[in-house]
Amino acid sequence: LKEVYRKGMLEDETPDLPTSFEDIRDAAWENMSEEGRAYVHGGAGSDETFERNKDFSNYRIVPRMLRGVAERDLSVELLGEELDWPVMITPLGVQTLLHDDAELGTAAAAEELNVPLCLSSLSSTPMEEVAEAMPTTPKWFQFYWSSDRDVARSFLHRAEEAGYDAIVLTVDAPTLGWRERLIDRGYYPFMAGEGVANYFSDPAFRDSLAEPPEENPDAAVDHFLDIFGDSSLTWDDLSFVFENTDLPVVIKGVLHPEDARLAIEHGAAAVDVSTHGGRQVDGSISAIEALPDVVDEVDGEVPVMFDSGVRRASDAFKAMALGADTVMLGRPYAYGLAMAGQRGVRHVVENFLAEFDLTMGLAGCSNVDEIGRDRLKHEREL
Ligand code: FNR
Repeated sequence: LKEVYRKGMLEDETPDLPTSFEDIRDAAWENMSEEGRAYVHGGAGSDETFERNKDFSNYRIVPRMLRGVAERDLSVELLGEELDWPVMITPLGVQTLLHDDAELGTAAAAEELNVPLCLSSLSSTPMEEVAEAMPTTPKWFQFYWSSDRDVARSFLHRAEEAGYDAIVLTVDAPTLGWRERLIDRGYYPFMAGEGVANYFSDPAFRDSLAEPPEENPDAAVDHFLDIFGDSSLTWDDLSFVFENTDLPVVIKGVLHPEDARLAIEHGAAAVDVSTHGGRQVDGSISAIEALPDVVDEVDGEVPVMFDSGVRRASDAFKAMALGADTVMLGRPYAYGLAMAGQRGVRHVVENFLAEFDLTMGLAGCSNVDEIGRDRLKHEREL
């Protein structure tokens, strides 16, 4: 990792892709279609939560000096696996809209860096193909309910069969949020063709169609939209997931401490504090604002993961200082993918890890356990 920033000091070795998040986003923007931009942006309503998510500035890092940080260990244990880094890649659907490399490019980059990836149900590549691209790196499958239980069951079985290590059940999207840019363009272009190939390749999904998706894609998309999500679900319905998988189940999208408690009571192996990147409840608390109460409620019983708004390593450091065990990276890698395919994802994630390593060292931490609340002050305490 040290190489990454050492290179930046040598004029003839400066990277050919931009380093700052903003420059990468701009480069991605240039490369994307209108639909791609609307999809990636995708903030709900007025974008209030999308914007607030990114504001970590109420928390200030309080670095410690002269603590012998030459050797830094970034590893963490999560769900029984030793991970090299406390960083994972978030589930992000329909990546064919971003770049032709799509999920296979993201998976190959994750495999190169040994960064665990969580694959979206809405993958434009069948989950089995993505799993093959990640033979050694931990991979999790993000599960969206279908109101068609045969399809839901089939997804859970396929994930286990394909070698995924955990199921990540997203509970904040029983239906999609009020995403104005997407409403204006219609959801259809996002799902057509290879858009949601993970559904179109599913045996139970195919069985429920009169004609195969290749022959009648419109009907397949209509059916997909019909069965996507299920607003009638309650916590007790989680038993369906446990009955159909032996994998650990992570609950993604927890913001209220009592929901964290319910998740644990119902068997969650971990919870992920997330606002879905501000794509669901406009005006909601941001993920970083929600994190401390959830951490206090969970009190170490299960790991707490965190995503939404993480752009730079200092954001991840702050989330971990507040008690998150791992952090998931979302839009930054999406922009990397749109900018330069697999190479762009690798560039973004590798830089993120290097910046994280550097931030840890400069803040006086030689391992992730040392990233504690004593390294952080809230503005009101100043
Ligand atoms: C998402 N997210 C998401 N989450 C999920 O559980 N399943 C999914 O299919 C998707 N799809 C998706 C697409 C796009 C384009 C985005 C930006 C996000 C939410 C994602 O996993 C994560 O919670 C957010 O991306 C975190 O917010 P930031 O950091 O990207 O702003």
